[in-house]
Amino acid sequence: MPSTCVVGLQWGDEAKGKIVDLLSDTHDFVVRYNGGANAGHTIVWGDKTFKLSLLPTGVLKSTVQSVIGNGLVVYPPRFLEEVDQLLAAGVTVGSNLLLSDHAHVIFPYHMEEERLAETGGTGTIGTTGRGIGPCYQDKVGRRNGIRVGELLRPDHLRERLRQVVPYKNRFLAAIAQDSPHTPKPFDPEALADEYLAYAERIRPFVTDTTRVLHNGLAQGKKILFEAAQGSLLDVDHGTYPYVTSSSSLPSGIWSGSGVPARSLDRIIGVVKAYTTRVGRGPCPTELHDETGERIRKIGREFGTVTGRPRRVGWFDAVAVRYTAALAGVDAITIMLLDVLSGLPELQLCTGYRLDGQVVDYFPSDAYLLERCEPIYETLPGWSEDITTCRTLADLPAAARRYVDRIGELVGKPVAVVSVGPDRAQSILVKPD
Ligand code: IMP
Repeated sequence: MPSTCVVGLQWGDEAKGKIVDLLSDTHDFVVRYNGGANAGHTIVWGDKTFKLSLLPTGVLKSTVQSVIGNGLVVYPPRFLEEVDQLLAAGVTVGSNLLLSDHAHVIFPYHMEEERLAETGGTGTIGTTGRGIGPCYQDKVGRRNGIRVGELLRPDHLRERLRQVVPYKNRFLAAIAQDSPHTPKPFDPEALADEYLAYAERIRPFVTDTTRVLHNGLAQGKKILFEAAQGSLLDVDHGTYPYVTSSSSLPSGIWSGSGVPARSLDRIIGVVKAYTTRVGRGPCPTELHDETGERIRKIGREFGTVTGRPRRVGWFDAVAVRYTAALAGVDAITIMLLDVLSGLPELQLCTGYRLDGQVVDYFPSDAYLLERCEPIYETLPGWSEDITTCRTLADLPAAARRYVDRIGELVGKPVAVVSVGPDRAQSILVKPD
């Protein structure tokens, strides 16, 4: 079994966790390489449901080594909260979970900066409010970034916060001038005390994860990379500026985990049978009608992290063809097909009309994309319950046709069709 990446090809929330769960049995490591606690994932384990946003999906399996790579931004209280949630439910969390000493640390001033910026004069992105963007800004800016390894050196951490926090307080006061909110000031000593207490609890998990992964590869171990968010939220290739602040495409693996691209043998792109998006930014196939409401309700399309209703639309094959090419996927998996049961007709977006011209490519520039009108192909729907289907042949003809047409339009084989949340509710498609 080769090393694999599971990546979402839309705007996140494609139900990647289920595919990671299906594949994790045949891999030794499950590695997150980007993002932070903005990546809500709901995991069903026996009769229990966990809502995680930072820990990798693999953490529920004590036989798998879960890794939070250097490319992440980590809020220690959230890390500990998620660990405690699992321990309280009887899940083994110990040496099976590793946290990179190179990952960057989110402090409350990052969240405060985000709160002020999102309500300020430079425009709203509709972020998750978890301090992700400001922490990545500090990482790239270098002067104010603090890494997990630095938390473990008490005198050093205190000194760093004495340098950084007064600057942050001045900076927050300046950006607050554009916002209706009064900035919250921070005290370096109190922050140091707080974070040193977290440090003692996270210490056993912290290590040089790059070295661990290199050793694993040298021993022939298989790694499963779990991308967070979706390819259309990638900071370089997504619908900028309405994106997240990391590389959610597999291109982030090399920088975000230290594992070179050549170690990766297989890339699985995950799509929903329709489209969702949270936050601001263009979404050409968005539905503002009863059909959209129905899909949102049946698909329970509300953000795991923020609880916001997700924007819902028809499947956009132009967007997915673009991200499948960017991600270099070998195959796609189609999730939540059962949510579409009962709709008389389905629409697939096959092109756009941009300023009167027909275009068959995805303009990833948000300002162009928001002027695109979708061109649809209409397919018949099906009324049958498909949640018990286990092979493609079990699907009603119209559902089969819908799946085949998505594969044709995206130009990639369909490896899995998911017809329900349960692991068993999966049609594993055998390659021809
Ligand atoms: P940030 O990642 O919190 O900075 O948010 C930037 C944009 O990405 C916002 O539109 C968020 O709603 C969106 N976003 C971030 N993480 C996820 C995710 O895991 N699923 C879906 N959307 C996300």
